[in-house]
Parts: sequence; C-alpha cells; structure tokens
Amino acid sequence: MKKIKTAVFVSGGGTNLQAIIDREKAGELPHVALSLVLSSQEGAFAMERARQAGIPAFACVKKKLGSQAAFEAALIQKLEEHEIELIVLAGFLSILSEDFTKRYERRIINIHPSLIPSFCGAGFYGLKVHEAALARGVKVTGATVHFVNEIPDGGEIIAQKAVRIYPGDTPEKLQKRVMRQAEWKLLPTSLETVAKEMASRDLNQ
Ligand code: GRF
Repeated sequence: MKKIKTAVFVSGGGTNLQAIIDREKAGELPHVALSLVLSSQEGAFAMERARQAGIPAFACVKKKLGSQAAFEAALIQKLEEHEIELIVLAGFLSILSEDFTKRYERRIINIHPSLIPSFCGAGFYGLKVHEAALARGVKVTGATVHFVNEIPDGGEIIAQKAVRIYPGDTPEKLQKRVMRQAEWKLLPTSLETVAKEMASRDLNQ
C-alpha cells in the first residue's frame, strides 16, 4: 500500500501531534508515514514527543533565521530532504506566505478550534478562539480541519465536529473539551482521508 510521507508542523505542547502518533501506532492511519516534525520554537514539548516516537524533529526559528524568506527556505530544505508530500499544521503558530502555500497547494491541512467561519482568521488562535465563542454566547462550538491557502483559516473545509458549550464554561475548560471531543479525533481521521485520496491519485497516474 502506498503511504504518503507526512510532516507535522508544531509550536507548543503537541497534543494533536500525539493523537496522530497514537493513531498511526494503532494501525489506524494506513496511508500515512509520519516522517518529520518541524517546530517553530526551540523548546517545544512536541519535539520531545516526536523523538520518543522515533520521528526526526527539527526546530526552524524565524527570529534566528532573520527573515520570513530564510525561515521558509529552511522549512523547504527539510521537507525536500525527507521527500515530504503532505504537511499537517497542528498548533503551528507561524504564518506561512502565499509562496509557501502555493508550492504545497492542497497538500497542507490545518486544525482550527472552532466551527469555521465562526471565530477564525487573523488573531484567532489558542485561548482567544474560546474566549470569543463564550463572549458571543454561542451554545455550540467545535473544530474544523481545512486545506491551507493564503487566507488565514480560509481554505476549503475538509471536516468539522461540533462540541457543546455549558453554563459556567471557562475558556480553559472549553479548550480542553474541544480538544478531547473534537480535535484529537478529527485531525488524525482527516489526515488519513487526505492521504488515502493522494495515494489513490498516485496509483491512477
Ligand atoms: C490546538 O487547540 C489547535 O487547534 C490550535 O492550537 C492548539 C495546539 O495544541 N491550532 P497542541 O500543541 O496540539 O497541544
């Protein structure tokens, strides 16, 4: 079976990366070869998770590299070295330019912790997303996996999962519920869907 060489981009704790690792280890992502982890932060715990799973992991830090162009050149060098075909953004906090997203058109997916088009776009990341949902008083939120293009959170939607909001929720409580009930399931499942599609396209060429 053809497996799609996949890189995961991270910046922080890496619980979504862990969910992917666990599902792959369980044999539930048969079209995915987890081949590389790239972090925008040097000390990110996600890198430790990668190492423990035996996946090569490197940090590419924009501040150190000096410019967006140098940062993206470093990412691309690693991606090419490892022959990566598909990229997953899993809590990756750096912006990618249009040049980068065009180069990997329909080959980058992202997880966003709301039901797009609510609470998304520039400035909506981490707890801010859940703060905004609670401030607006919505009763249902969730997570969205989408393809990445040049518009923040603007690419085609692949999958969504709804999560209920309860009276007394705090942003922290809600963030945990969205991760547990939606993100950690939706991201690995969507990754397998996209990889399977890519693999079948490759075989038909
Ligand atoms: C998640 O909520 C994800 O949706 C968002 O950033 C967070 C990353 O968490 N984009 P982790 O690093 O996967 O634990």
